[in-house]
Amino acid sequence: MSSEFSREIRSEVTKDGKIKISIAKVPIIFPKQDEVLVKVEASPINPSDLGRLITFGADLNNINILGSGNETVTKIKLFSKFFNSLKNRVGKSLNVGNEGAGIIVESGKDSRHLIGKIVGLAGGGMYSEYKCVKAQSCLIMNDGTSSIEAASSFVNPLTALGFIETMKLENHKAIIHTAAASNLGKMLVRLCKEESIPLINIVRTFEQVEILKKLGADFVYNMNDSLFMDDLISAIKQTGSTLAFDATGGGNEGKLVGKILTAMEISANINSKEYLMYGSEVFKKIYIYGVLDRSPIILKNSFGFNWGIGGWLLMPMIKKFGSEIFENMRERVAREIKTTFRSEYKKVISFEEMLQPEIIRNFSRQSTGNKYLLDPSM
Ligand SMILES: NC(=O)c1ccc[n+]([C@@H]2O[C@H](COP(=O)([O-])OP(=O)(O)OC[C@H]3O[C@@H](n4cnc5c(N)ncnc54)[C@H](OP(=O)(O)O)[C@@H]3O)[C@@H](O)[C@H]2O)c1
Repeated sequence: MSSEFSREIRSEVTKDGKIKISIAKVPIIFPKQDEVLVKVEASPINPSDLGRLITFGADLNNINILGSGNETVTKIKLFSKFFNSLKNRVGKSLNVGNEGAGIIVESGKDSRHLIGKIVGLAGGGMYSEYKCVKAQSCLIMNDGTSSIEAASSFVNPLTALGFIETMKLENHKAIIHTAAASNLGKMLVRLCKEESIPLINIVRTFEQVEILKKLGADFVYNMNDSLFMDDLISAIKQTGSTLAFDATGGGNEGKLVGKILTAMEISANINSKEYLMYGSEVFKKIYIYGVLDRSPIILKNSFGFNWGIGGWLLMPMIKKFGSEIFENMRERVAREIKTTFRSEYKKVISFEEMLQPEIIRNFSRQSTGNKYLLDPSM
């Protein structure tokens, strides 16, 4: 190793109500017995990274940038109403980046055979040039897989697989998915096709309908279409869907979750001749797993009493599935990272580019086909 230092992205809330993003130079931690040192070559900027990187209270019309190269410092004003909720972060310089991939360049004595392997990593602080981690936590990729291909091998692939495990665990037979033109949504389309699981995709533009149809999706509906509810009810009837995963956090001004439950209920009652005072006995479940829309969730109960809404978070769910299922999931992701679990990126950027106001505004939109990939070695 020629260098003893590693650069990494830091995010700090300042006393004067700003988010300061900078590039820190820190000593490299060299691997002990069961550890490896990974030179990180690719790390995605996912929606789940934004809370730590820029917080949910950043005023993106109020960004200032100073310096250049490794001395670049970007400050974003916080909306004052969010400042109180961030007071425990004031003055703390946090590393960022949930997942990434790179090449093992050094190891402790247990894992010398891994030197030169491309691996996927998760666990935080991935917007970093070098990362020292337990060898066991690395997802070893097959020869011929690049770091760019392996960069998103945890968060979205395991979540897509986790939806299917949840469906099996809770005895449902089909899935409804919102914000379905996301990277995760596309993985789910490919996965459900492979597994012959009926999947109803909900998107918000006609372009997104076309994107998913081209991928082979059978059921794709635009929530802004006037026929949306009729189409959704009919698709639920055909597939028997009683389980949905919602990334919008309500979506559609907070009304999407309620609409899906209503469509499930109407579909369950479609052939009933009885008056059901308390609604159908079919259990309907929606998991909210993202907050793309921060509107309050509005539920106008037209779906009886046999339903549930819960949150869905990857790591607690993995614990629930158990280590054997988790290991199988990891192995499948490594095997199919170029096909089922491939991700798409708008652009590969450097640390300095990541701090540019226009790029920050761009990745914060979380829009279709707009994901950036950081290459810390650039
Ligand atoms: N809970 C968990 O454990 C977990 C794990 C993994 C991922 N996630 C969540 O999964 C979601 C997808 O992640 P990703 O990396 O696949 O995203 P991505 O590729 O960046 O795509 C984001 C998608 O969301 C859509 N979108 C954004 N705002 C929306 C809104 N208000 N209403 C409806 N659609 C909206 C975008 O469509 P437009 O172009 O129309 O904006 C785009 O298709 C994120 O919310 C992420 O936080 C959660």
